[in-house]
Amino acid sequence: MRNDTIMVIGTGQMGAGIAQVCAQAGYNVYLNDVSAEQIQKGMKRISGQLMRQAEKGKMSQQDVKEIYQRLSPAPHLEDAREAFLIVEAAVENMDVKKEIFKRLDGITEDLAILASNTSSLSITELASVTNKPEHVIGMHFMNPVPVMQLIEVIKGLETSEETYQTVVAVAKKLNKVPIEVHDFPGFISNRILMPMINEAVFALYEGVADKESIDSIMKLGMNHPMGPLALADLIGLDTCLFIMETLHQGFGDDKYRPCPLLKQYVNAGRLGKKSGRGFYTYGNN
Ligand SMILES: NC(=O)c1ccc[n+]([C@@H]2O[C@H](COP(=O)([O-])OP(=O)(O)OC[C@H]3O[C@@H](n4cnc5c(N)ncnc54)[C@H](O)[C@@H]3O)[C@@H](O)[C@H]2O)c1
Repeated sequence: MRNDTIMVIGTGQMGAGIAQVCAQAGYNVYLNDVSAEQIQKGMKRISGQLMRQAEKGKMSQQDVKEIYQRLSPAPHLEDAREAFLIVEAAVENMDVKKEIFKRLDGITEDLAILASNTSSLSITELASVTNKPEHVIGMHFMNPVPVMQLIEVIKGLETSEETYQTVVAVAKKLNKVPIEVHDFPGFISNRILMPMINEAVFALYEGVADKESIDSIMKLGMNHPMGPLALADLIGLDTCLFIMETLHQGFGDDKYRPCPLLKQYVNAGRLGKKSGRGFYTYGNN
């Protein structure tokens, strides 16, 4: 196990961003996903991001080269053995995440920290499939990772203070602000954000206003940097739906019922920006 090595599992929009900021902070980063092709996609996403930073004069070509060299594809989960911190950022699905954590438990050393970037799922439940629940923690990065300051740090029932302090130290090294929350569905960020997005989808569904008007009202009237429907597209409508279902199930309260229109879009494959179409249509996909 090496104190300068982090593995990121799932190299989609969040995992790629997490890997990028870790490499920028000087860590060696292993990238794992379901296939070599997916990992390459993630690496390409990161190189594109770094090149854009260089074009804007925010870093030199030499920086880009050095950061990129700290990234290594790791198609085998067994490579997690070398990392002191593993950040899982696979799809928002408890069964998928449990399977990953179960395998990691067998691969990693006792002292390694197993973190999940889950938006809403129980850290305590994830930890329960491992033999080291005191080393399991939530590290909830915000989207887009290189830009957003916050990391919500979620302590499961058994998470140790030592694990928490290590993660806080890593977060600070990444130039982020860690804030501690307890393990309840949606934590703080998505318990507040997702019902607002879901309500915006209901307003669209009921024909109260069109999508542009809903988004403009929240931007111009509430000073939000982007409207809730555009934000849902950025997050991914599948992820939004998973989170609403977790809130609905977790609290057993119908106020968290996902809007049927959100379900319909997800069933149609309209997942937002990542699939080229959600509430809005996007190019280059
Ligand atoms: N999208 C957001 O705004 C946002 C914000 C904070 C947290 N999150 C959380 O981050 C996680 C990832 O979200 P995303 O938006 O990056 O999704 P995404 O769909 O862009 O990426 C998910 C990646 O996980 C990979 N994957 C799926 N199963 C896997 C497995 N068994 N092993 C390894 N890789 C696997 C997929 O191939 C894909 O590359 C989710 O838990 C989500 O809730 C998302």
